[in-house]
Parts: sequence; structure tokens; C-alpha cells
Amino acid sequence: MAQSDKTATLTYNGTTYELPLLEGTEGEVAIDIGKLRDQTGLITMDPGFKNTGSTTSSITFLDGEQGILRYRGYNIEELAEKSSFLEVSWLLIYGELPTAEQLKKFQTDITKHTLIHEDMRKIFDGFPTTAHPMGVLGSLTAALSAFYPRAMETNRPPEEIYLSVVRLIAKIPTIAAWSYKNEMGHPVNYPDNSLSYCERFLKMMFALPTEDYHVDPVVADALDKLLILHADHEQNCSTSTVRMVGSSLANIYSAIASAINALGGPLHGGANQEVIEMLEDIHKNGVSISTFVEKVKSREMRLMGFGHRVYKNFDPRARILKKSCDEVLNKLGINDPLLDLAKQLEEVALKDDFFVSRKLYPNVDFYSGIIYRALGLPVDMFTVMFAMGRMPGWIAQWLEMLQMKQPIGRPRQIYTGATERPYVEMNKR
Ligand code: ACO
Repeated sequence: MAQSDKTATLTYNGTTYELPLLEGTEGEVAIDIGKLRDQTGLITMDPGFKNTGSTTSSITFLDGEQGILRYRGYNIEELAEKSSFLEVSWLLIYGELPTAEQLKKFQTDITKHTLIHEDMRKIFDGFPTTAHPMGVLGSLTAALSAFYPRAMETNRPPEEIYLSVVRLIAKIPTIAAWSYKNEMGHPVNYPDNSLSYCERFLKMMFALPTEDYHVDPVVADALDKLLILHADHEQNCSTSTVRMVGSSLANIYSAIASAINALGGPLHGGANQEVIEMLEDIHKNGVSISTFVEKVKSREMRLMGFGHRVYKNFDPRARILKKSCDEVLNKLGINDPLLDLAKQLEEVALKDDFFVSRKLYPNVDFYSGIIYRALGLPVDMFTVMFAMGRMPGWIAQWLEMLQMKQPIGRPRQIYTGATERPYVEMNKR
């Protein structure tokens, strides 16, 4: 980040103030308002932080107008096609593509940490089988801090921090798969460390003691690609949560558990589940596309999987996923009527002025659910898959926040409640 020579001026109460400008490597410019209140008594107001930069970051670049998404400078299209999830995880966390040796060590370390503490298994027993797997994932991720208390030390050496990174990436698939087994009332499967990252997860999810289970490589590859596409997305709701919680120097497990809980909301990562439920509803009730679109336009409901706070042209991940949907379903020999329905909905919406004028395009969640369904994943595991994919991004953002000594997050407000008034005794009210 560079301090620009140019400044912005603000005139308030007859005085003109010069505000410094900051410029990023992609030419984005921000007004630095850090001293605004000291100088003018003013604060800025921006509910939902629609126009507020909370940090500088060198991890992910996205340009919502051009539909560009890059991790550490590499285009998402290229990474999705040529890389693997663990390679991308390393890239996000450590800033460079790993050498073969670095990647091998990373994979080996992750494989060594796939088991979760047996006492943690007992926590699963306390959850009802009706528990949503996202609730279980968030709770057990927070619980990791109790099993690895050194994570609480704020002056941990880098080797300890590396261990936390490895533990999180290694154990989340185990917790995720076990939360599903808990829901099904099935015995859990221990991780099979002879398999790759995604194969291991799929086996823990789907193998039963009563029958043979072989991981379909098409399914494992498709899942790996999905995880790459979800791996980071700069300062979204859950990532800002990681940095906000982490800025209090809360431990990494707590910060990431908070992000998992933020991700679960239907306006964020929970949308992938909502998309499938919406498509199933339309299909089951024989609602015509035009009737459904009219309902959206009359604000009876939102078109889930459409719209994005940042992408106002197209979401590059949605483009990759739409193509991937066709490929995966073809390879698996699946004909899903929901895919046709989704495509028809997209076509109608993209020609309708309601969506066009508001710049509403399919986002990452519009097609991802259809692929998850084809891979055999139950609907309430979709957001869990998103969390698994986002793990390296959250970790990278947490580390960056720590390294740059981001000050504790503490926004201001404009108070609109009652002004000072005397207390009235109970018997006089
Ligand atoms: N369906 C119908 N109308 C929509 C939609 C939608 N999916 N999204 C936005 N709009 C409309 C709003 O009603 C509003 O219209 P108005 O100006 O006439 O009142 C306008 O578009 C702007 O919407 P906002 O909610 O102000 O946009 P914001 O940037 O705050 O919200 C969000 C972005 C939350 C993603 C929104 O588009 C949405 O709710 N989409 C559906 C949920 C979804 O798919 N979420 C996943 C996002 S991707 C992710 O988190 C991984």
C-alpha cells in the first residue's frame, strides 16, 4: 500500500480539511479517515460497511465490476483448473505457491492430524440428532481451543501457530463428517490416512460398516475444485468476523468458530442450502418460472443464489460452477431437473429489468448446491462444505491480521435513543 501524493478535501463548518489517500497495487484508492474525528469531531456512517475498507490485505483481489477474483495474484479460473485444494491453501496462507517439498510436508503434516481427541467424540453424544451440522461444526471448532490450550497464549512461537493451522485444516473434515454421522445416527468412521484430503472426507461421510465403499475419483475431484472456489473472498461477513474476533487476540479456534457461525446465515454461506430448497419447492409444486419471478419482483421472496455485495457484473465462481455442473452431472450420468430449472431461472432473470437494473447475477451459491447434490451430499451439509473450503482463507486472514497488528475492531455509532432523564421510582410510574 502506498500513501498517495493526492489528498481529498472535506469542507465542514467553513473549514477545509485535507484527508490523505491510500492506493493499493491494483489502483484502488481509499480516503484515510483515521484522524477525521480528532480533527473535525465527525465520524463516518456506513451501515453494513458497504463502502468502508476495514484493512489492507495482500491475500485476495476481487474486482466486482470486471468479475475478477485472484488469490495472491493468481486467477481463480487457472487455480480451479490446474491446482489442488491443499496447494491453494498453502498459497493463501503463506503467500506463494509451494515447492513440491513444501507441499509434500504440508500434506503429510495434515494427514498426521486428522484424528480428533477421543474426549471430543463424547461432545457429539450431547447433540440431538436433529442438530444442524453447522451448529455442531461451530461448537466443536470452538471446543478445539479447550483441547489445545496453548492456542490461547498470545506470544506463541511460529511452530505452534503452524500446528494450529495444520490442525484446523486436518480436523475440520473429520468434525464435519462426524456431525453428519451424528445426524444420521450412524457410527462414525475414523479418517483413512492412505487417502487424499477429499477422498478421506468422502469416505468418512459415506462409508457404512455394512457395505463396501469406494470413493469415486470424479466425486473427489469435483469436491476439490469446489473447495478451491470457496477458499477465500476477501472481507466478506465471515472473514471480517475472523479479523474482528481475532483482533481482540482471541485464539484462532474461537475466531474461526465465530466465522463458521457467521457463514451459516442464509444471506451468506447458508444461501447454497436455500437455493436447493427454493428449486425443490418450485419443482415439487409445479410453479412456473414466470410466476416465481413475479413473486420475487413483488418482494414476496428473494431469488436465492442471486445478487452479491461486491460482484455487480458476474461472479467468476458462478461461471466456473455452471460449466462444472454440466461436466460433473454428465460424468456421473445424472440428469437433475433442478439444473434445468436453475438455468431457465437464470435466463429469465438476466433478461428482466428488475434484476438487470439492480445488477443481480448468479453468485457462487446458485450452482454449487446442484453439484453437491450430485456428489450425494445432503442439503444441510452444503454450508459445511463451504466452511471446509473457506478454512485456508480464514486462516490466512487471521494470520495477516496478527502480523500487521491490526488494532482491535471497535466501530462507532450515532446514538438515537433517549437523552438524559431522571430515574423515576417504581411506585411513581
Ligand atoms: N432477489 C431479489 N432481489 C434482490 C436480491 C435477490 N437475491 N438481492 C438483492 N435484491 C434487491 C433488493 O431487494 C434491493 O432492491 P431495492 O433497491 O429495490 O430495495 C437491491 O436488490 C439491493 O439489495 P441489497 O440487499 O441492498 O444488496 P446487498 O448488497 O446488501 O445484499 C446479498 C447482497 C445479501 C447477497 C443479496 O443480494 C441477497 O440477499 N441475495 C440472496 C442471498 C444469497 O444468494 N446470498 C449469497 C451471497 S454470496 C455469499 O455470501 C457466498
